[in-house]
Amino acid sequence: MLLIWLFSCFVRFSGVEGYQSRFTSIPSKPTFTHSGNNLTLIWRYHLSHADKPHFRWLVFGLWTNGDISTPLMSVSKNGKLVSYSDRIAWLGNKTTAAFRLHGVTIQDGGVYGCKLDFGAHVVRDSVRLAIIVSPRIEKNKIAEVKALEGEYVVIPCHVTGHPRRWIAWSRDGQILQNSTKESALKIPAARANMTGLYTCVAGNEAGIDKYNVLLLVTSCKHQSSETQEESDEHRSHDLGHFHVRATFTPTLVVAFILFVIFGAYFFFRYAGARSNKFRTYNKMSQDEQARSLMGEWSSFADSGEKI
Ligand SMILES: *[C@@H]1O[C@H](CO)[C@@H](O)[C@H](O)[C@H]1NC(C)=O
Ligand SMILES: *[C@@H]1O[C@H](CO)[C@@H](O)[C@H](O)[C@H]1NC(C)=O
Ligand SMILES: *[C@@H]1O[C@H](CO)[C@@H](O)[C@H](O)[C@H]1NC(C)=O
Ligand SMILES: *[C@@H]1O[C@H](CO)[C@@H](O)[C@H](O)[C@H]1NC(C)=O
Repeated sequence: MLLIWLFSCFVRFSGVEGYQSRFTSIPSKPTFTHSGNNLTLIWRYHLSHADKPHFRWLVFGLWTNGDISTPLMSVSKNGKLVSYSDRIAWLGNKTTAAFRLHGVTIQDGGVYGCKLDFGAHVVRDSVRLAIIVSPRIEKNKIAEVKALEGEYVVIPCHVTGHPRRWIAWSRDGQILQNSTKESALKIPAARANMTGLYTCVAGNEAGIDKYNVLLLVTSCKHQSSETQEESDEHRSHDLGHFHVRATFTPTLVVAFILFVIFGAYFFFRYAGARSNKFRTYNKMSQDEQARSLMGEWSSFADSGEKI
């Protein structure tokens, strides 16, 4: 019993009762249009002889939960037109429901419906309207990103446009990344040879937009010349001071030279002390050597005198 009742409800709702009255053509689903365009949505329909006397009106409007929620325009049996929006124009006739939307914007995206109302039953259809907006990249005046070697770098590319399709990054014509989800270019560890001009290209059905960003990776020679044996403590200390190194280079050079001079001074002092000590232990033999040398010299001198 319940099933029969449900079935009859279904039959009434789906318009099968007025079987011959129907839409003979509907807008493409979904309908895409570029923002700024004038869009015409067209439904062609056929009214059965049985339905014609019962036809009350034709309604066009915003569609929610399977029915028109906000009427934008209605046309009655005798051709009386009621419009709820000055942006919508009627271009239809006795067999065609055609609505023109002037100057489409992104806010016009949504679901629209058309309904033929016969009092006892309705014939209805809905279509999703997707507005396409050409991609536009937000451009900064100074398109430059600076990084230190080894640093994690993110080069952003802020894109507006609808629907968002793809955002590609390239360098010297070589595609590095092309994604519909990722917009920024992420470099886990920058290298000096990554310095260069990077291009962000965003595109969808409506067009493309481009943006160039210069990446400058500053080489960190001290870091790279460090050997593996050096302690982590030393390394982190070195890294911590890297940022100021560039501006204090002359000071550091002077400090280094002073360090070398003092180092050399203390080294030679120590070495001198050591050799003095060494000499005391070998004093005898050295003195003997000296004496023998002097002896030789004296003998030579003697022999010279003799000559
Ligand atoms: C939209 O229609 C208006 C007038 O109805 C016209 O001036 C305008 O050029 C049209 N725009 C486009 C993109 O066709
Ligand atoms: C109704 O309008 C549509 C398009 O607007 C047109 O193709 C059709 O020929 C028209 N029919 C009549 C009977 O005027
Ligand atoms: C990125 O990929 C899309 C397809 O997903 C393609 O249409 C587009 O041309 C690609 N962009 C570039 C710059 O290669
Ligand atoms: C950049 O340098 C790294 C090593 O530091 C090397 O592996 C890579 O191939 C270089 N890339 C280019 C494009 O020269």
